[in-house]
Amino acid sequence: MSTLALALSPALRADFPGLVTGTGQPWHYLDSGATAQKPQQVIDAAARAMGADYATVHRGVYARSAEMTLAFEAARRRVASFIGGAEDEVVFTRGATEAINLVAQSWGRQNLKAGDRILLSVLEHHSNIVPWQLLRDRVGIEIDVCPLTADGQIDLDAAQAMLTPRHRLVAFAHVSNVLGSVLDVRRAAEMVHGVGAKLLIDGCQAVPRLPVDVATLDCDFYVFSAHKLYGPTGIGALWARAEILAGMPPWQGGGSMIDRVTFAHTTYAPPPQRFEAGTPAIVEAIALHAAIDYVAAVGLDAIHAHETRLVGRLRTELQRMNDISLFGPQDSAGIVSFAMDGVHPHDLGTILDEENVAIRAGHHCAQPLMDHLGVAATARASFGLYSDDSDIDALVQGIERTRRIFG
Ligand SMILES: Cc1ncc(COP(=O)(O)O)c(C=O)c1O
Repeated sequence: MSTLALALSPALRADFPGLVTGTGQPWHYLDSGATAQKPQQVIDAAARAMGADYATVHRGVYARSAEMTLAFEAARRRVASFIGGAEDEVVFTRGATEAINLVAQSWGRQNLKAGDRILLSVLEHHSNIVPWQLLRDRVGIEIDVCPLTADGQIDLDAAQAMLTPRHRLVAFAHVSNVLGSVLDVRRAAEMVHGVGAKLLIDGCQAVPRLPVDVATLDCDFYVFSAHKLYGPTGIGALWARAEILAGMPPWQGGGSMIDRVTFAHTTYAPPPQRFEAGTPAIVEAIALHAAIDYVAAVGLDAIHAHETRLVGRLRTELQRMNDISLFGPQDSAGIVSFAMDGVHPHDLGTILDEENVAIRAGHHCAQPLMDHLGVAATARASFGLYSDDSDIDALVQGIERTRRIFG
């Protein structure tokens, strides 16, 4: 497994023009959890779509627009096949954040009433907390928060004990963006469905590093953003079971989402168009298609094995240092969060930047998790398929230099 993983990186790295500094030095980019670098294949696909192939979709009577419409809908089919759903179950959104807001404002307002409960977890990204608080303020639902195990996984035994027939929705991250912990989605789905609730999975950090099949996972909603999957910003997807989407009202109005408009009455298009008001992110959808083709050609099993080996090595290196505390489970997926005694993560990040090492320092849009960990911020190294041992070497050297600077 690690032989295959080791073979992944060197050749692939050359596909990513962003992995060098402005002066042509290797850039040790360890912030793929925030956003991934793009392979040339994706950049080329975007340039073609915005250049020689460019036209609008769904409306034009001319050939270029008809071709663009085919390419745009082919992107939707590719997203569906990538995560094991059906084409008409994939709604393009601006990203995971918008996808969760869509579910909250459409499904939530339609199906939840005062006194209903939903369950989130301590480790959720703000994108999977605040949309539900907005819904709570509007509808009067109650939000429960599932605790974590000692090593930072969503505690499914606790979730089981907390769930009641009044719970209508559970929304959990598939992979934590801070701790890298991986949820057992199938087990979560079984217990959530056992009380008649729906399960929404925030797959932002999972789709770039684990094979995902929504049918096997048995969740009801799955969301992700393209830019963490080596694709462009400005597009993401909501997958939902067809029968659920069919019952959801539109949440934004405008062109493309209608069937017939009069001033007296408007009827709406079926899903997924019902949820895609306005001219869509055409170029971004086509570039997302190219990103999925790229990732699929490398293989998610191989990417997962590669990142798992890098996480194992980095954790071992950090565990040898007396002044470093590690957060999250030993087998975290692609993400390692840590703290250095007496050094603020921002100072560490700034010194590492001088060494051409880019990590993330901060609360990672997970302030409740920071409160739980008892810190204001963590340092986070997150890997991508192009990461390799030289990135870990540079990080370790940078940490050692930081230690010398801080005495
Ligand atoms: C777990 C998780 N959920 C949601 C998001 C929000 O994604 P976006 O800002 O692309 O909508 C992120 C991004 O950092 C994330 O890591």
